[in-house]
Amino acid sequence: MSEQTLTTTDNRTGKSYTLRIENGTVRGMDLRNIKTDADDFGLMTYDPALMNTASTKSAITYIDGDKGILEYRGYPIEQLAESCNYLQVAYLILFGELPNDEQMAAWTRDITYHTFVHENIKTLMQAFRYDAHPMGMFISTVAALSTFYPEANKVDDIENRLAQIKRLIAKVPTIAAFSYRHSRGLPYVYPDNDLTYTGNFLNMMFKMTEAKYTPNPVLERALDVLFVLHADHEQNCSTNAMRAIGSSRVDPYSAMAGAAAALYGPLHGGANEAVLKMLSHIGDKRNIPKFIQGVKGGEGRLMGFGHRVYKNYDPRARIIKRVAEEVFEVTGRNRLLDVALELERIALEDEYFISRKLYPNVDFYSGIIYQAMGLPVAMFPVMFAIPRTVGWLAQWQEMITDPEQKIARPRQIFVGQPRRELVKHKV
Ligand code: CMC
Repeated sequence: MSEQTLTTTDNRTGKSYTLRIENGTVRGMDLRNIKTDADDFGLMTYDPALMNTASTKSAITYIDGDKGILEYRGYPIEQLAESCNYLQVAYLILFGELPNDEQMAAWTRDITYHTFVHENIKTLMQAFRYDAHPMGMFISTVAALSTFYPEANKVDDIENRLAQIKRLIAKVPTIAAFSYRHSRGLPYVYPDNDLTYTGNFLNMMFKMTEAKYTPNPVLERALDVLFVLHADHEQNCSTNAMRAIGSSRVDPYSAMAGAAAALYGPLHGGANEAVLKMLSHIGDKRNIPKFIQGVKGGEGRLMGFGHRVYKNYDPRARIIKRVAEEVFEVTGRNRLLDVALELERIALEDEYFISRKLYPNVDFYSGIIYQAMGLPVAMFPVMFAIPRTVGWLAQWQEMITDPEQKIARPRQIFVGQPRRELVKHKV
């Protein structure tokens, strides 16, 4: 094998340096030896938005954006979505292997037993305005959980970490459903521990006067698939936030509130909300050419298209398209689906989108499904946050236990005023 080094010459000094290449990367800190003189701080890299910087080693999720490949712990997303439920995949993401029957029974029991929230959490949520955005409620309530579990700040204690991880995975559907019921002015529904993870979530969302809620098995399964697809996506904006905040050794509730806040933005988890607004705005297939013209002319983006890493069809979008058809068999066809299908067809034939490698991403169809299930648009980012909880927590745990990690602290290039003296004025 060829030598795994990079030899470079600093033309400021004429000196040559040989840097080690490991996993296709050079170490940023190795550049610091490249100096013009002894007083020089040393060379740094400038990489706004961390476009070409690996901030960690990770064994959880593998993505090949050019080929459209997504794998959790080595298993292709298509196979996991086909054969597993969300809790099995959550176990896989956290512990590295799929659970056997015994492990799965214990894991399901543990999660089920933690689905209730303290009554004070309910009171706290009831204090929000009647029209509060459910994602704002979700973020604040996750942060508030840290005050109920002060021991959660012992982040180096493995047992303690696991207890908080189970609590968070179990409680996020409850918090999400309470925030939805609040926004509708409906009484909160307590968890039903006889139901599956997704079945119970549907119960807490939609139960009305019936003594026992029975989830529709097609919708229950569709939700499982959607949750599997959203469980992790390596170093995206919110995961990077989770790791960065958690690197200060704060408790996981506070770190996860920050991660959820990052997810709220329209370029990340808020995109499915933006897709629905866009499709409603287009309204009819006839208006698509004019809309596309506007996008190409710089009047906004085609939401649900394009991805920082996928320069090919997002593999999750393919699976979601199939799930959409199954859900519509139950709920009836969402008229916006026809607009979406036609928009996709036209965009995929258009030179603007082809040359920029812009393909539908996971959010292009997920919003249409959630709307067909009866969810308001404001709930969409919350529907992303529930399954992503396990991804955030697995990545957080990986960071905490990685001996190479320290508190996240990037450098800057200072471009402000050089030092100057304050001239005192009489006021
Ligand atoms: N519609 C129209 N043009 C676009 C779009 C789009 N959706 N996305 C990128 N472009 C253009 C962009 O204008 C630029 O063109 P030019 O080279 O002429 O300036 C070129 O494509 C490259 O864009 P970029 O902003 O450098 O690409 P990026 O990798 O930084 O952005 C993105 C990725 C997801 C933020 C972006 O594609 C986007 O804003 N998409 C719409 C929002 C969306 O659907 N987000 C959900 C992402 S998937 C969910 C998740 O994992 O969080």
